[in-house]
Amino acid sequence: MKFTFIAGSNRQGATSTKLCEYLQHLLEERGHSVDLIDLYQHPVPFYSPGESYSGHEGLARLGTSAKEAEGLILASPEYHGGMSGVLKNALDHLSQEHFSGKPVLSISSAGGAVGVSSLGQMQAIVRNLHGINSPEWISIGGSQRRRFEDYLDESEAGSFHDLEERIARVLESFVKLTGLIHRPYGE
Ligand SMILES: Cc1cc2nc3c(=O)[nH]c(=O)nc-3n(C[C@H](O)[C@H](O)[C@H](O)COP(=O)(O)O)c2cc1C
Repeated sequence: MKFTFIAGSNRQGATSTKLCEYLQHLLEERGHSVDLIDLYQHPVPFYSPGESYSGHEGLARLGTSAKEAEGLILASPEYHGGMSGVLKNALDHLSQEHFSGKPVLSISSAGGAVGVSSLGQMQAIVRNLHGINSPEWISIGGSQRRRFEDYLDESEAGSFHDLEERIARVLESFVKLTGLIHRPYGE
């Protein structure tokens, strides 16, 4: 199946983006095709209603990739009890034609234990665009973020087994949901 990630941090080496890369690796290992759109590497302009963005390469890729995907993954850092402005702005460029009837997994990285506010906001937008929220989400918070920082040494790597197991389980259930939704009627 085809999955598109929209990674909504505006920071090099962001843990939310590294988490996307980790999930990308797991999906590709299982034979899925993945497009990871990192909004730090590929910024999109501030959305202005009525303005035409037809010549913008990054927006064209975002729109086409989101439309073609069978499942979408939204990632954000938790900022001031909400999602990042960068992700919100990118989502303002999209619409029901990208989300309707499509499973969406929300993931976040927070300084506190759980980025529940950004996750709730992402899910509210998905509902508004008639997407199908994954019943589970992925949040990394506090010291769990260390797993996705650069320069993790080998002695530390083993201590994140439970986190990795949970991430794999949530991803598995999201992939299963996506498969069920896209299965031809009657199969
Ligand atoms: C402007 C700003 C606001 C933040 N607000 C919160 C917050 O409300 N709650 C929280 O738990 N962490 C907050 N943080 C910490 C980030 O969520 C945390 O550093 C996160 O891991 C960043 O994600 P990234 O590594 O993907 O950039 C804030 C950080 C910044 C820069």
